[in-house]
Amino acid sequence: MSTVFCCVLVVFCSVALCRDFEERPSISRRSEQSMFLKSHKTRNLLSLKDSQQPDHVKMKRSEESAQNQCQSLHGYDSTLKNNTHTYNFNDLSGSVSLAWVGDGTGVNYGKTFQDITDLINNTFIQTEFGIAIGPENSGKVILTGDLTEGRVTKIFRSVDFGKSFVTSELPFHPLMQIAYNPRDSNILMVYSINYDLWLSEDFGANWRKIHETVCLVKWGMDDTIFLTTNPNGSCSDRGTLELRKSLDYGKTFKTIGSRIYSFGLGGRFVFASVMTNSGSKRMIHVSVDQGETWDMAQLPTVGHEQFYSILAANYDMVFMHVDEPGDSGIGTIYVSDDRGTVFSKSLERHLYTTTGGDTDFTNITSLRGVYMTSVLAVDGSVQTVITFNQGGEWQPLQRPWNGVCDSTTEYPNKCSLHIHASYSISMKLNVPVQPLSEPNAVGLILAHGSVGGAVSVLSPDVYVSDDGGYTWFQALKGPHHYAILDSGGLLVAVEHNPSHPISQIKFSTDEGQCWHVHNFTDDPMYFTGLASEPGARSMNVSLWGYRETVLNQYWVSVTVDFRHLLSRDCQENDYIQWLAHSSDISDPTDGCMLGYKERFLRLRKDSVCWNGRDYLVTKEPTTCPCTLTDFQCDFGFYHAENSSVCVEQPDLIGHSLEFCLHGRKEQLQTSGYRKIPGDHCEGGITPERKEIDLSKKCVSNLLRTELLCCSCMSRSTVWTACALSINGSFLLFFRYAELASHLGPVLRRSLLNIR
Ligand SMILES: *[C@@H]1O[C@H](CO)[C@@H](O)[C@H](O)[C@H]1NC(C)=O
Ligand SMILES: *[C@@H]1O[C@H](CO)[C@@H](O)[C@H](O)[C@H]1NC(C)=O
Ligand SMILES: *[C@@H]1O[C@H](CO)[C@@H](O)[C@H](O)[C@H]1NC(C)=O
Ligand SMILES: *[C@@H]1O[C@H](CO)[C@@H](O)[C@H](O)[C@H]1NC(C)=O
Ligand SMILES: *[C@@H]1O[C@H](CO)[C@@H](O)[C@H](O)[C@H]1NC(C)=O
Ligand SMILES: *[C@@H]1O[C@H](CO)[C@@H](O)[C@H](O)[C@H]1NC(C)=O
Ligand SMILES: *[C@@H]1O[C@H](CO)[C@@H](O)[C@H](O)[C@H]1NC(C)=O
Ligand SMILES: *[C@@H]1O[C@H](CO)[C@@H](O)[C@H](O)[C@H]1NC(C)=O
Repeated sequence: MSTVFCCVLVVFCSVALCRDFEERPSISRRSEQSMFLKSHKTRNLLSLKDSQQPDHVKMKRSEESAQNQCQSLHGYDSTLKNNTHTYNFNDLSGSVSLAWVGDGTGVNYGKTFQDITDLINNTFIQTEFGIAIGPENSGKVILTGDLTEGRVTKIFRSVDFGKSFVTSELPFHPLMQIAYNPRDSNILMVYSINYDLWLSEDFGANWRKIHETVCLVKWGMDDTIFLTTNPNGSCSDRGTLELRKSLDYGKTFKTIGSRIYSFGLGGRFVFASVMTNSGSKRMIHVSVDQGETWDMAQLPTVGHEQFYSILAANYDMVFMHVDEPGDSGIGTIYVSDDRGTVFSKSLERHLYTTTGGDTDFTNITSLRGVYMTSVLAVDGSVQTVITFNQGGEWQPLQRPWNGVCDSTTEYPNKCSLHIHASYSISMKLNVPVQPLSEPNAVGLILAHGSVGGAVSVLSPDVYVSDDGGYTWFQALKGPHHYAILDSGGLLVAVEHNPSHPISQIKFSTDEGQCWHVHNFTDDPMYFTGLASEPGARSMNVSLWGYRETVLNQYWVSVTVDFRHLLSRDCQENDYIQWLAHSSDISDPTDGCMLGYKERFLRLRKDSVCWNGRDYLVTKEPTTCPCTLTDFQCDFGFYHAENSSVCVEQPDLIGHSLEFCLHGRKEQLQTSGYRKIPGDHCEGGITPERKEIDLSKKCVSNLLRTELLCCSCMSRSTVWTACALSINGSFLLFFRYAELASHLGPVLRRSLLNIR
């Protein structure tokens, strides 16, 4: 059985950020599809200035002296040579696009390829959205043929990982990638160049038109289809759209919102940006019941040139970026509560350029609660910051213990590690790949970075953290492509050097401290990228590149199988206990993060053995007693500066807090604290909090036309006041105090009912 590949021409298109909740392609499709290009662009210079070294020093898992004590692994070269397979492609095109269609069963990891050009009758495949891989491990693949003038669009459908294909003609021309229902890969949805929405319930054999003038469509939970439409006008009339949903595959639709600008889905939340009555501004509404009822999110309103973006979302919470006015390239990150309505300010001056259309925001999936991103300092420099508690606080990265601070820096005593991610890549810096972490390679992060000063970015080096981002060390000099294999038991890296052919792959069995070199070929090739099966469990890695002969260039894929290198299965004594987030073992709350600590069994650095495909992360969680850091401020409260104490807003003292949530009127009795979403602490400090259902119906749904909404300014405060439809007897105020920026790091915002 073969892995599907197909060769496509390169089309560079700049994705302009024109609507809220734009998908971030680099995140959503990174693991399944990769594209390798033959030539590389020249690099620019980006100035990274240094910043304060964090005072916080963590205990290391790694050994400072290890780099000098690397012991050579003997005799691996002939083993690896026997397990290195080369495949030459008879193809001269400019780029290769590779997609993984299977799990570990039956696929041969790219050691050989079957040319399926015949199977699809030599049809050209669409570059932009031509390969649609089915969800989970369904084995389904759809290739969309390139639209030739005046002809029909063909699709080639496979249910057996691309082994065989059947062809069908579409009764329309698609304008997006065919979207599989995540719950049932036989149900497909796509809209056409006329903005008609088409649905198939039999894996693309038959299609029916289910809606016209569709602007944006997404699969929600439980087979729900969400779409925006403009019944009269065009999709470019943002702010006049209707949001509709269907629960029966488009047989019926229900309008769940009007005056919509755009919508987004994240975790269990549905977000819609809705025009306010002032006309030019919009605000966020959120639903946790798939659009049946909506609440206003306590986020700033934005104007037409700004945008909202969901950086990451799960069942518990969401990280939302709100763009600043003007084309500043920065905004503010807010973190939500568990209902998605109350937001706290998490990070200011967050870098998210409109031109680059990207941000460095990265979920470090190898350790709970850790996220990394970049801020644009006031002096114009870009700096990396990291949070270990889900956006509670952010701090600069520690200086690597073997990292040399750039001597040209303006402030030699301030020196920290700066990570190169999407932004550097969009600036054409010499950064071949994004930071890498995997949930089953606990604590491990690989990333390009530079230490300290302003100019050392011409050739970033590879840094590794083995404790989830607390401490770092320089692992490789210069830019490399890298991959995690065998759940972190094996790391591989290949030097990035587009102008010179290479013949070596480096690997490490001790989380990046010692590296060994294997010559995978006698005939060096121009290397373009690494590919390994998503999920980091494989032992096979493919190097993609091309060779030049006098007459032509041809693509090559070299696959190295490391299974015979790590021939021994890991035993119990190959693992040791490791407490995540630990800084001081004498402290009983050491390692507590979001209310619990976790002890992991991790592979010893000096163990050279195979974790195996079925390796499961072993962790032992223990709950921690609650402290104030386990709470965020409730409605009507804000954090006192530099403290975790929540203070009641002066203008609210003496008022009872009543508000409308999910269509019910509730009274809130609170001492100001609400548990952080996902926090599992027990006992300890337990601030009182009660929500009393007043058993009155109320409407907080701005999306309905019977509501009046307006915005007005008073002094330096913007008030958004919404008169509910109960004949004016009831008012709901959101107060936005954002304009007074001196108010400190935490959002001061309240919800107040006045009779
Ligand atoms: C490599 O393969 C050859 C021929 O199949 C065999 O003779 C040799 O022992 C193998 N070497 C190793 C290290 O497995
Ligand atoms: C390829 O073309 C032949 C002849 O036109 C046709 O019989 C066959 O069904 C086509 N195959 C596919 C996969 O479209
Ligand atoms: C669409 O047109 C109808 C009739 O012309 C009008 O009543 C309705 O308000 C329009 N709807 C929108 C969303 O513009
Ligand atoms: C970050 O990644 C982890 C591991 O994959 C995941 O459990 C978590 O939900 C993610 N966080 C968010 C906010 O998406
Ligand atoms: C690998 O290649 C390098 C030069 O590219 C050479 O110096 C070295 O001896 C080779 N190693 C082996 C084991 O062949
Ligand atoms: C590597 O590829 C071979 C097939 O060529 C497969 O049998 C083996 O299971 C793969 N190893 C791992 C660990 O994925
Ligand atoms: C809060 O901390 C910042 C930075 O550490 C400091 O500049 C500021 O004075 C502090 N504010 C108060 C009220 O302590
Ligand atoms: C609003 O007032 C009108 C007329 O006074 C009355 O008919 C209607 O029932 C009232 N609506 C509500 C929701 O109280």
